[in-house]
Amino acid sequence: MRLFRGVALLALASAASGSISQFGDPDARAKALLKQMTLDEKLAMVRGYQGHYVGNIVGNERLGIPPVNMNDGPQGFRDNASPGTSTAWPSGLTMAATWSVDAVRSWGEGMGKEFYAKGANVQLGPGLCLARIPRNGRNFEYLSGEDPFLGYTLVQPAITGIQNQNVVANAKHYILNNQETNRGSVSELADETTRFTMYYPPFAGAVAADVGSVMCSYNKINGVWSCENPETLGHDLKAVIGFKGYVMSDWGATHSTSIMAGLDVEMPGNGFMNVAAIKAGLAAGNITNAAIDDSIFRILRAMYSVGVMDAPSGTWNSSNIKKNVTTEASVVLARQLAAKATVLLKNDMNILPLDRTKTIAFIGFASDNAIVHGGGSGSVVPSYISTPLAAAHHAGIDVTYHDGINISSAAAAAAAADYAVVFVGTLSHEGGDRASLSLNDGCDGCKFTDQDKLVSQVAAAQTKTVVVASVPGAILFPWANEVQGILTNFMPGQQAGNAIIDVLFGDVNPSAKLPLTFPNKENETQLSPAQWPGLPDPTNPTYANYSEGQLVGYRYYEAHGIQFTTGFPFGHGLSYTTFEYTLSGAPQVSDTHVTFEVTVKNTGSRPGAEVVQAYVIFPESKMTIGTIQLKAFEKTKEIQSLESVTVGLAIQREQFLQAWCHKWVNVPGQFKLRIGSSSRDIRLSASFIL
Ligand code: BGC
Repeated sequence: MRLFRGVALLALASAASGSISQFGDPDARAKALLKQMTLDEKLAMVRGYQGHYVGNIVGNERLGIPPVNMNDGPQGFRDNASPGTSTAWPSGLTMAATWSVDAVRSWGEGMGKEFYAKGANVQLGPGLCLARIPRNGRNFEYLSGEDPFLGYTLVQPAITGIQNQNVVANAKHYILNNQETNRGSVSELADETTRFTMYYPPFAGAVAADVGSVMCSYNKINGVWSCENPETLGHDLKAVIGFKGYVMSDWGATHSTSIMAGLDVEMPGNGFMNVAAIKAGLAAGNITNAAIDDSIFRILRAMYSVGVMDAPSGTWNSSNIKKNVTTEASVVLARQLAAKATVLLKNDMNILPLDRTKTIAFIGFASDNAIVHGGGSGSVVPSYISTPLAAAHHAGIDVTYHDGINISSAAAAAAAADYAVVFVGTLSHEGGDRASLSLNDGCDGCKFTDQDKLVSQVAAAQTKTVVVASVPGAILFPWANEVQGILTNFMPGQQAGNAIIDVLFGDVNPSAKLPLTFPNKENETQLSPAQWPGLPDPTNPTYANYSEGQLVGYRYYEAHGIQFTTGFPFGHGLSYTTFEYTLSGAPQVSDTHVTFEVTVKNTGSRPGAEVVQAYVIFPESKMTIGTIQLKAFEKTKEIQSLESVTVGLAIQREQFLQAWCHKWVNVPGQFKLRIGSSSRDIRLSASFIL
């Protein structure tokens, strides 16, 4: 079947509203219930507390409103009280590497089911910030990678997947929480165009999927706290983007009784959104009853929309939190998703897939200590972790193991085998940015040995060396030209080992693509201290200036013509087969979309899937940048050897082929279309005039 992206999204939206309609009209039901509430009953809901779950809002027995039970995080249910009772799924960034709407939907469904079974009706995820800063400690959580359109597209199936399980999703952290350094004080200086063009689209995608809640962030925006910012909350998010759900603060990110600015719920306390403060505001005329009603309406609407209100009694009972909700099915799915998210960066001499009858040396601490997740509220403690070493043994593959601590003996072990696979990796965590992009920074295990030196010396001893890197975002591979094969599986979750064995030995043919650029060197985009981590100011702790505007990630690399020597471009990812592209005719322009069809032929000998990426260069204008920008993509089905499939792609004209100048405006002229297998592997060119 051919599906135009635009049409596919429409289908998605109606699927979402189809499931919503089984719970009646959420607006009408929320309005009717709101009418029955007293002021005190309403005020009990504009603040939360930390109870059995990470966050809670009291229920209302008189009116039959269940409690709101919120829990972290964006890659599975975080249960520190009963560890090992939920699945550690691949992280948000890892899922972004699939470039697959279907994979992301099943990820959302898998997580949502576990939240439901734990009695939680709000999942504090997905995370959607853009990887503006390669060293940002939370990049691993974020589904957008470094591209707003990638985030816009992938967030929709994530939200639908979660919310179809009667669990309200939460799009976070709105907005510009793009660094962890000074996150609780930094003021992010970004103009309207930069916000609408680069940072809002993933949240607009969440809104398009009718996300029930949004979390405002710790930082300030242009000098005003995110959770009391009338411009970004009340105006941009609610009035312009059209968000219908409720805004909750990040934990401790409320600084005032900000209901009039667009904050609906203070989490997790009542320091500011308490009864006394709101009643005083009402008496003084600073707060209106209409604003309170709007906040409560938004919370109730979200609960009605996804079926929280109609769940069988006992569903939201906090005793459910103790249940072990991980299932065989989730573990199987987590394995498939982690394999689908594994990016093949390099495969010289077709060293991969490996021949299991040869002698293979697994080297490096990460062979036996799989790196699963980053740290902080996004981490999940699984019941078990599949390590590469255990998974190989389980699959009946005979490998030797060397922990890599003594580098020369590791090199000797590599030389003694037919192939060496070096497992390297590092971590990052919430609350801090990475000290560098080196593999040697970020985790205890990384300190056992100099991982870069280990790879180089193993590669010097063994030509047939492959590296598997588990990383929380962009990373430096100074040895990239010394090894024959490189795979990255980002933060793969608890099925790390099984999934990588599936890929290494060819049971799964890789089809993932980088959701962000892997640089050649540290700070390659030349961020000045004023841009990151920001400069101190006497009146306002730190300012981080978004003076690069839209030149984030690959847009910067394009604008500066940077070539890749040891790094890898955005969108890059190889397969064990090869693909040939043909454009079927000229792009067609309608009032709403530009559409085109691309035929992809599998010219190799193995079945494989490809991601067709369509980039656009806007006509020259003061409002646009001159670089390519991702505007459509489609992952094919698995194509058989010598088979061709035709995929239809559609770019929505509104927003995606417009520029922001206080509103979306047309940019008349010739648009160039660049279609390819990565941002630097462009196979086809065309143009259209708007
Ligand atoms: C994080 C949020 C998280 C919350 C609750 C905050 O520190 O920024 O992402 O959901 O804590 O744990």
